[in-house]
Amino acid sequence: MCGIIGITGRDDAVEGIVAGLKRLEYRGYDSAGAVIPDGQQLRAVKRAGKLEEFVHALEGQPMASTCGIGHTRWATHGAPTDRNAHPHLDPTGRVAVVHNGIIENYQLLKAELGDVRFASDTDTEVVAYHVARELDALDTPDLAEAVRRTVRRLKGAFALCFVAIDDPETIVVAKKEAPLIVAHADGVGYCASDVAALIAHTRDVAALLDGQVAVIRPDGLEITDVDGNPAQPHEYTVHWDLEAAEKQGYDSFMLKEIFEQPQAVHDTLLDRHTASEPGAAPALHLDELHIDERELARIDKVFILACGTSLHAGMVGKLAIEHWAGIPVDVEVASEFRYRDPIVDAHTLVIAISQSGETVDTIAAASHARDQRAPVLAICNVVGSTLAREADGVLYTHAGPEVGVAATKTFVTQIVGCLLTGLYLSQVRGRMFATETADILSRLQQMPAAIEQVLELDGEIRELAERYKDTDYTMFIGRHAGLPIAMEGALKLKEISYLHAEAFPAGEMKHGPIALIESGSLVVALAPGGHVFPKMVSNIQEVRARGASVLAIGTDGSAADLKEHADHVLTLPEPTHELATTVLSTVPLQLFAYHVATLRGEDVDKPRNLAKTVTVE
Ligand code: M6R
Repeated sequence: MCGIIGITGRDDAVEGIVAGLKRLEYRGYDSAGAVIPDGQQLRAVKRAGKLEEFVHALEGQPMASTCGIGHTRWATHGAPTDRNAHPHLDPTGRVAVVHNGIIENYQLLKAELGDVRFASDTDTEVVAYHVARELDALDTPDLAEAVRRTVRRLKGAFALCFVAIDDPETIVVAKKEAPLIVAHADGVGYCASDVAALIAHTRDVAALLDGQVAVIRPDGLEITDVDGNPAQPHEYTVHWDLEAAEKQGYDSFMLKEIFEQPQAVHDTLLDRHTASEPGAAPALHLDELHIDERELARIDKVFILACGTSLHAGMVGKLAIEHWAGIPVDVEVASEFRYRDPIVDAHTLVIAISQSGETVDTIAAASHARDQRAPVLAICNVVGSTLAREADGVLYTHAGPEVGVAATKTFVTQIVGCLLTGLYLSQVRGRMFATETADILSRLQQMPAAIEQVLELDGEIRELAERYKDTDYTMFIGRHAGLPIAMEGALKLKEISYLHAEAFPAGEMKHGPIALIESGSLVVALAPGGHVFPKMVSNIQEVRARGASVLAIGTDGSAADLKEHADHVLTLPEPTHELATTVLSTVPLQLFAYHVATLRGEDVDKPRNLAKTVTVE
């Protein structure tokens, strides 16, 4: 979604803005722009399309300045055109704004201005008009005060970033329900939508909290609430470096991130299982959880809330928690949860899963549950993110930065996070002997090596992709732990290749979806060994009998049988635990989607219409 970068105090502020916007590209966008205070005017350049269009438009412009703000826009109100691209200026050109979020009462704010012609169709432009009006009303121009007065009246979600010609070295930002990070290092002030844009300059950053306004100057930061009282943001240090956010020789971030999965899973499992004191039996420790064990022992129901790929990880979480901890679990699309009447109380544990920790649907659902006294555990990849801060406890996945829009390594680490949560709940409720937990954990530790083996199938998968790259419709089927992975496989294929793909519980086929199968259809069947394997074989036979080609994902133990029934079998190493199969069987589906999309000439890192961080409802 929209990306914001602001810099003040650097001779090459415009270069810094372009570099920052490049780092924010992965969030998804359809236009880009920037504004710098230049002499007696605010000079703005903006273009629809890729960042290159904007950079091209900058060439030849006198954009030398020590201060400026830049933006990548993901269209919500108004088409992705030059005129709707940010920044937006008030009619006198005195104030400029860039924005991430949605101003819900923008129509009302427009109406208050009377008969004014707006230059765009956005919900953002009107904010610049109101800030300019507030500036005019003040005895001495004070951008921060004008912003505070304006944001007190705004409804909706926003990260807003302003510059004004009256004070050309000052940037003012305000935040509510959309992420905004500020930093100051070596005489330069910064702000950005996320840390990816800032790590080239500093790793010590501060996330603004809702309702905070920051004044950013070369000599420092000043943070207040909307009434002007001093306020404290959430300060933290980013632990990954620039190299982790680079492609490092891979053709795309997505491919690099697929190949980083052994490490990501290893890091997520690291140091979770230790003896609390010498001589004591090792136990599972989720130190950052911060939810009292006695409280967890009293839980009688779990809701897992998430969106997209994270939801699929949550479906594996349900199987793990019900199996190991014996607590009933509902998994729900976060955007639906708060618009019904979910039965939630202090004995309900809500697990909110989000890679970014900034998905507004998930944050809002979690906060709805907290209002009803339910403890919230976040499973999250981004330290210091909004969800992580607002939850009662956090289990961090340690996947490192994920730049590709399609979630890959963060998905498998979310599964690991869910498995750990299931085991931990079982431990605090006394459902398993410590030795049993230790045994499962030691078997999970073998996952990174097993993923390495699966990655060796890459060449074979590329050949399959070559063969099926023009198949219009692919159906993914699975049962039990195979179902969420089938759903994830279908999502991966559709989001980066734009081909139709759907997933169904294999047993549901005969209740309708099998009508879609005809000669030339491709069915991807998740069929590792395990208790549902014989049923999967029957379902594979049913679709094959109707002319579908079947690509089956099997394991060492099941592959021989599968070869009789499927056109192609990708064989995974035998999993160390049935639920751990989910991690292994995800990998070939990611690689299949990746190769189909690249063979079709698509940009896998920045698929059309999609954003990495979804900060609007
Ligand atoms: O950051 P989150 O995990 O909350 O994001 C949720 C979804 O937007 C995300 O998983 C999305 O479905 C990805 N594009 C999947 O590849």
